Amino acid sequence: MPVPRAPVVVSIGGSVLVTGEGDGPYFDRLAERLRRLGRAFPLAVTTGGGRTAREYIRLGRALGLTEFELDEIGIDVTRLHARILAARIGPPAPHRPPTTIADAVHEIHRGSPVVLGGTEPGHTTDGVAALLAVRLRAARVVNATNVAGIFTEDPRSHPRARRIERMSWAEFRGMVHRESSGAAGQEFLFDRTGAEALARARIPLAVVSGRDLDNLERAIRGRPFDGSRVEP
Ligand code: UTP
Repeated sequence: MPVPRAPVVVSIGGSVLVTGEGDGPYFDRLAERLRRLGRAFPLAVTTGGGRTAREYIRLGRALGLTEFELDEIGIDVTRLHARILAARIGPPAPHRPPTTIADAVHEIHRGSPVVLGGTEPGHTTDGVAALLAVRLRAARVVNATNVAGIFTEDPRSHPRARRIERMSWAEFRGMVHRESSGAAGQEFLFDRTGAEALARARIPLAVVSGRDLDNLERAIRGRPFDGSRVEP
């Protein structure tokens, strides 16, 4: 009997999905690619909420909603993106995105790729991707983001920022704890829950630009890619 191929989990930032420029064609090409890859091996994809989530979180915060309630608003937006992507991928992706890690595990046994948004308050969809990867014993997690890897500083505001090609889990965890707040709608490369879960399970993380689909595919397949690697 052939050895089943190890699952891969991809976390796509909301800031990659919805930029205001060429989003329709991007969703289209991404969906085609994920459908094809999902046939080759078990593939799970999480979708972030991006600026739409942040906009509603800002509104809710101005109205005095709690952090828990703001997280729930963020989750709803991530699920909206999951629904759009899953619908475009089409069967065998379920028409309604799973809402828990357990349901996502169940779905991936029925069909791949599985697309989902957030699960519960307190982390981001990167955290969901990491927890799901641990549960699936995934070969790797690929974080598709709006910059081309992990940088010494935010490359959008610091032109001298340098990309870090390789990092240990200890270094990455230190960086995540220093720079992420844990508040609803936070804007940082990865979240604490995700970094802890992947480090503990010794699952490698690749960070790539989400709009370069050839490069994203190389990272998903475990081939050499342009971006950053966090490894044990
Ligand atoms: P995102 O996953 O989009 O997080 O969830 P992010 O890092 O802020 O943004 P991008 O998309 O990568 O740019 C949006 C918000 O939804 C809540 C959090 O408040 C998060 O900041 N959320 C999401 C949860 O509380 N739980 C989840 O499982 C997912």
